[in-house]
Amino acid sequence: MAKIKQIIAREILNAKGQPTIETTVILTDGSFGVASVPTGTSVGEYEATDLRDGDEKRYQGKGVLKAISNIEQIIAPALIGMEASKQPEIDRKMIEMDGTQNKGKLGANATLSVSEAVAKAAARSSILPLFMYLRGFVKRENLPLKVPIPLFNVLNGGLHAGKNLDFQEFLVIPASSKSYSESLNLGSSMYFALEKALDSAGYSTLVGDEGGFGPKLDTNKDAIEFLKRAADSLNLRIGFDIFFGLDAAASNFYSEQRYHIKDKTMALTSKDLSDYYQTLNSDYHLLYIEDPMSQDDWDGWKACNEALSNQTLIVGDDLTATNPYRLQMAINKKAINGIIIKPNQIGTVIESLAVIEVARLAGLKIIVSHRSGETNDDFIADFAVAASADYCKFGAPARGERVSKYNRLLQIERQLKSI
Ligand code: PGA
Ligand code: ZN
Repeated sequence: MAKIKQIIAREILNAKGQPTIETTVILTDGSFGVASVPTGTSVGEYEATDLRDGDEKRYQGKGVLKAISNIEQIIAPALIGMEASKQPEIDRKMIEMDGTQNKGKLGANATLSVSEAVAKAAARSSILPLFMYLRGFVKRENLPLKVPIPLFNVLNGGLHAGKNLDFQEFLVIPASSKSYSESLNLGSSMYFALEKALDSAGYSTLVGDEGGFGPKLDTNKDAIEFLKRAADSLNLRIGFDIFFGLDAAASNFYSEQRYHIKDKTMALTSKDLSDYYQTLNSDYHLLYIEDPMSQDDWDGWKACNEALSNQTLIVGDDLTATNPYRLQMAINKKAINGIIIKPNQIGTVIESLAVIEVARLAGLKIIVSHRSGETNDDFIADFAVAASADYCKFGAPARGERVSKYNRLLQIERQLKSI
């Protein structure tokens, strides 16, 4: 069994040009794994710590040299000599060494880059594809091994596109009857049909952080209307061939207990906003709404879930932050019927899988997600398949750091056919 021989970390840039960590783990049999971790832009309050140097002389204070020193000075000496296949023990060791609730000491960016690089090295050593290797850590009775349904973020708003709109993501979702490669083609067709629709109406087709278009429209509803126009231009049946979804990321337009959106002149209560989602839902078949309410507006979440969950996925991201305590609160309060899983919100592979298991037992749909500040690392594609996620959200079907994941899913789809 191969043991961890060396761990090397370095500072690289993510797709937004901000520093992040790339870690290489080398094993005694010569196998190695390289992993780089993403960064969020609309970061929830309950996420684990993304450790930054705060040294304004370097990268606007966002350098990660402290986190790298934590890897090389603290984590590496403790992990060297451990068997690489013992991922649960390795992750537990890092959690213990950190000793905080939020990876505040070592940094979740440090621990996750090591955790993922160990998994990649161990997969290579075992000669299994990464998704098959990771599946060994999943309690998987009766869980299908398949590529999740992709959620394509074709129109960007909120913090991802200079606050052009209030809602952050406008998603298109292929029907579940389609294969993954058909779905990718559909997402791509919608992307280009949307570009054409925006362009011919005189709107900019410059893109936001996740590769979706970022037009300056008058209302959030207008953005959904453009999705409809794009679908119509392709003769796609909304609610049959294709569905729409939103990541409202509502914490970003909530202040003084009111929601502020361009669609309405008055500030909205949670009830008003929930009613507005219902109107949008009856007009456009919204299959999916992520963070419809702000991260601490539990009453708003409960009411929204009660009103919409029979037709729509009400999904926690900032609300739950891939955190077991927040998840349990959301389950107890009946606030959601789906959950976003972002490994960098918690900081290790095994903890991310544990959150998925609890969520699944509670009957929630699982959505594995990238971050807006991605790298070209495609780890989460394998992770999503291994965990039998229902959906995956990797941005627009464009730009290198997004398509690296979608392309990896194409490879996995082929590999699954030969199993
Ligand atoms: P983030 O956005 O990576 O900027 O947090 C993604 C999301 O909110 O889902
Ligand atoms: Zn989100």
